[in-house]
Amino acid sequence: MHSEYAPAGSPRRALAGRRLTRVPRRFPGTALILLLASASASLAQLQPPPEPPGNPLTTSKANLGEALFWDEQISSTRTVACGTCHLPTVGGEDPRSGVDPLAVHPGPDEVFGNQDDVFGSPGVPLNGADGLYDWSTHFGLLEQVTGRRTLSAINAGYSPELFWDGRATNEFVDPVTMTVILESGAALESQAVGPPVSDVEMAHVGRVWTDVLARIDESEPLALSPQVPLELIDWIAGRSYAQLFEDAFGSPGVTAPRVAMAIASYERTLFTDRTPFDDFVAGDDEALTTQEAAGRSLFAGAAGCDNCHQGILLTDHSFRYTGVRPQTDDIGREEVTGHPDDKGKMRVPSLRNVELRAPYMHNGRFATLEEVVEFYDRGGDFPNSEISPLGLTTQQKEDLLAFLRRPLTDPRLAQELPPVFDRPRLYVESERVPRVEGSGRPGSGDLVPEVVALEPALIGNPSFTVGIWNALGAADAWLVIDDQDPGLVLPGSGDLWFEMISLQGAGPGAGFGSVSVTIANDPFLEGREWFGRWYVDDSGGGFPVAVSKVFRFRTFGVQQQTAIFADGFESGDTSSWSVTVP
Ligand code: HEC
Ligand code: HEC
Repeated sequence: MHSEYAPAGSPRRALAGRRLTRVPRRFPGTALILLLASASASLAQLQPPPEPPGNPLTTSKANLGEALFWDEQISSTRTVACGTCHLPTVGGEDPRSGVDPLAVHPGPDEVFGNQDDVFGSPGVPLNGADGLYDWSTHFGLLEQVTGRRTLSAINAGYSPELFWDGRATNEFVDPVTMTVILESGAALESQAVGPPVSDVEMAHVGRVWTDVLARIDESEPLALSPQVPLELIDWIAGRSYAQLFEDAFGSPGVTAPRVAMAIASYERTLFTDRTPFDDFVAGDDEALTTQEAAGRSLFAGAAGCDNCHQGILLTDHSFRYTGVRPQTDDIGREEVTGHPDDKGKMRVPSLRNVELRAPYMHNGRFATLEEVVEFYDRGGDFPNSEISPLGLTTQQKEDLLAFLRRPLTDPRLAQELPPVFDRPRLYVESERVPRVEGSGRPGSGDLVPEVVALEPALIGNPSFTVGIWNALGAADAWLVIDDQDPGLVLPGSGDLWFEMISLQGAGPGAGFGSVSVTIANDPFLEGREWFGRWYVDDSGGGFPVAVSKVFRFRTFGVQQQTAIFADGFESGDTSSWSVTVP
């Protein structure tokens, strides 16, 4: 049904040029090999993910979806996009998990630093509709972390249900009107309406979809992104989101179903069908080395991996309990079905690109594939596991690992190759993020107030929030932002901002607060550099005021995107950008 190429002139054909380009590879004697190679002949080659009947894939919808997926302005704080937690280089997951010490959730016992911790993904600080930050029990004023490890947004178009527990179902319901929009095959659409209103991932407390739509409407597409693939810039062509929605859907209207359908369309272009395993399945007998082929035999044979990691996708989409953590730690599928039989069951993940996707399992418990193989070899770690000990030899383990790595990895991901896997660069990956540096002065308890400055100083941003914590509770505090370092003595004014607040919390170190700064819509601010500090009325450290470190940043405008772009690349790896600089 989803044959790769549509007739000339159809929208599908145009799409094939933009994203679905697939160079057919020919192997000598393919037909004969297919007959002879029984292991591969049983599998059909990977096709593009199916589209639900009510949301056919078009180039403009996928382009709009790409812009939305990578636009941090959609989060209430303007700091988190879908892409923040779903990067191609790490197989569509989050490179911070297991690496960044702040990307840890304390797990069900709510205590950090023990076995039930989860290596998750940082989203937004706990924030309100007024843009101000509140104190989160586990994360303070810093980004809150998801209670599960990410799953990949790449190849996600193949699953009938999404998330570890399958709670994103194939029927898509408009989150505003609660009417059924798509009756089947729409798990991606169902999933996409979750994060923008999750107050851990992208939302302020109490945010609803009409808030999200208002934000999209008032934002210039990808205004925060310092570099955008040329093709996408060309398509956006300076238009507003309202105009892009009209182009993509044929009539005016920025609605929740359209946001979901555009994002899902983009995600349906993100599939990886160019692995050595795909060549092997297509009949190329030399696609796998001898050791990789031995690993494949073990995987599909004695080790029994393909009882669950079945077929061309390496998953049968079932829910299983393997004994990664006690069943009651995270009840998984039971939360959706209500059946005690489903306690602790998680969706069997595809193993495509698994080499890039460490750490592993729903809690990110294993840092390496070696640890995963050891886990299976010992038959899981908790009672009722559906897997049994294997007793593999060292050689067999190595063979299995060899199969899990190169053969399942699409080489386009690591380099984010165009036309499919290139992407807008994020604000958080740029030098636009305020930098905290220098030193401050302590207050009570010998504690130096800490500054939180994460948000983008985009010209016209009505809510550039700056936080303070680790200060004296209930004390007065001043935020000063000036065109030079305002220093260690409380100044009488600040060129960009000067505001006093009373800190919340009680006692030394327990005080916190935030201020929402308005960055005027004034072209004069373009590229100007600013320096800010917090001053706390607290002489307990032996100084008249306690002072935070300095945070510095430049106010920037939308038009800088193109300027930086045309100049070439100031920093980082440039190989992955689909741009030829004129
Ligand atoms: C703060 C990090 C974060 C952000 C932002 C985020 N995600 Fe995710 N994503 C996750 C986590 C964690 C999971 C797994 C959660 C679970 O299963 O309970 C997930 C799961 C998914 C899945 C399911 C994959 C599967 O195989 O089940 C898709 C698809 C996805 N996200 C797409 C998106 C889209 C689209 C957006 C933006 C609208 C987005 N994500 C925003 C962290 C994030
Ligand atoms: C009974 C079904 C089942 C069998 C058999 C099975 N797996 Fe799994 N596998 C799962 C489930 C379910 C998960 C996710 C578990 C979780 O996170 O709690 C998983 C997770 C994984 C992961 C981590 C993937 C990720 O994205 O984090 C790897 C790697 C893996 N399995 C490899 C194997 C190998 C190799 C074998 C054979 C030795 C095997 N599996 C056998 C069900 C199974």
